[in-house]
Amino acid sequence: MRCTAKWRQAVTTPDWTAIEALPHTPLKDLFAADANRLASLSTDVAGIHFDFSKTHLGPQALDAFTALAKAADLAGKREALFSGEVVNVTEGRAVEHTAERGEGADESVARAAAFHARMRGLIDAIEGEALGPVAHVLHIGIGGSALGPELLIDALGRESGRYDVAIVSNIDGCALEEAIASFDPHATIIAVASKTFTTTETLLNAQSALDWMREHGVEDPYGRVIALTAAPDKAIEWGVDETRILPFGESVGGRYSLWSSIGFPAAIALGWDAFEALLDGAAEMDRHFRLTDLKSNAPALAAFADLYYTQHRHAETRAVFAYDERLRLLPSYLQQLEMESNGKSVTADGQPLGRASAPITWGGVGTDAQHAVFQLLHQGTHLVPVEFLGVIEPGDMLAEDHHRQLLINAFAQGAALMAGRANADDPARAYPGDRPSTTILLDELDPRTLGALIAFYEHRTFVSAALLGINAFDQFGVELGKEMARAADRGGQDFDPSTTDLIRRAFG
Ligand code: F6P
Repeated sequence: MRCTAKWRQAVTTPDWTAIEALPHTPLKDLFAADANRLASLSTDVAGIHFDFSKTHLGPQALDAFTALAKAADLAGKREALFSGEVVNVTEGRAVEHTAERGEGADESVARAAAFHARMRGLIDAIEGEALGPVAHVLHIGIGGSALGPELLIDALGRESGRYDVAIVSNIDGCALEEAIASFDPHATIIAVASKTFTTTETLLNAQSALDWMREHGVEDPYGRVIALTAAPDKAIEWGVDETRILPFGESVGGRYSLWSSIGFPAAIALGWDAFEALLDGAAEMDRHFRLTDLKSNAPALAAFADLYYTQHRHAETRAVFAYDERLRLLPSYLQQLEMESNGKSVTADGQPLGRASAPITWGGVGTDAQHAVFQLLHQGTHLVPVEFLGVIEPGDMLAEDHHRQLLINAFAQGAALMAGRANADDPARAYPGDRPSTTILLDELDPRTLGALIAFYEHRTFVSAALLGINAFDQFGVELGKEMARAADRGGQDFDPSTTDLIRRAFG
């Protein structure tokens, strides 16, 4: 599909010289120079506090980035996104995950609401045992069809106790075996989640799950399958009954799809009210992103800081540490969102990007990571902007000291990275400091705040893409490897000597 003329114009590369010319003012000096710094670089949205004051953004950087955003027509691109225009130009599609939350073109919002009503109807029917007794939900999907629901259930599902949900993604049979080990095949439903309904891993795992049911005497295994897909015809062809297909729109991208029927396991496990609260929280963030001035706009400020470090200070990675076990899957979720969206070398109209694309997203949980990787963050030679996430309301019932220590550690790490400590006598014990961090503090972790948090990351990714001129919504980079694996499986591919030898060693 060819790019639209509109986008072609919008891609005209904005001038980055003002960003590249920004002076390097140490964080301590930025604080000293501006008594209002904390207030002007913090913002609160939907129960989440965002503190960007420990980044090197300051009045001059903000002016430069807002000018860049104007030159890149960020406002126009944002409106194009929300109003359902074809912004995924390489695939000729609109991008309508916000319509799932009720923010978008009227027609798209109505269509998403109808799909949600269908999902809710099926969940009610399952709860009423229309498919027989159900205790376990086996969700099979990969990438965007797994990471989102998995994050939601892991973060929010601790106490729901409604259904036992297992999410299986890897084609490695160990994953499926482990998931079904404790499941009763007669009380299990299988949710096959695939936007395209063509993904090898998902279809093979689904087939093996059906075999497992058959082997255990389940009479009509297909009768216990639900398809979550944007390709209902393919699901029907595969054997799923039309009544158990939960469709969503082609314009909802895989890594943006947890709001659609791909969120089914979360909706059934956490309950419909929780799923709606998740959508409402995301919608609050959508409205904030759409209506708030860029200098107080959380996704825009975060993207400006990201771009400052990648484009001006040549940071190659960014690290995300959740100081909350419930958010332990967030770094993996963000890896797909950020790296699959913005890990590109060409602009949306096919020109060489000519500058750094998305940084490598990595991370883990605090405080564990402090004892494993923080050495490099404090004293290594790489510049790594760090993001700390915490939740004020504890998720555990233990003595208060656990949670207090957890949060105090997050805050102290940010302070130490910034302050550093000189040691003229012993360089090994010196900390250079001036290392940037962002802190995101949730009042509590509930469906509303989690929805808003995920939407924040989506829009932050979009802002970076818009300023770089990247199409954040395709992922052709993953195709070549898939194609070669298919060809190798058929034995129809000539490989290099190393690969040929590996295949011979493994399969004879
Ligand atoms: O291989 C990458 C990818 O296309 C992701 O973008 C997507 O989320 C995942 O595979 C799964 O695709 P599907 O939902 O079509 O099975």
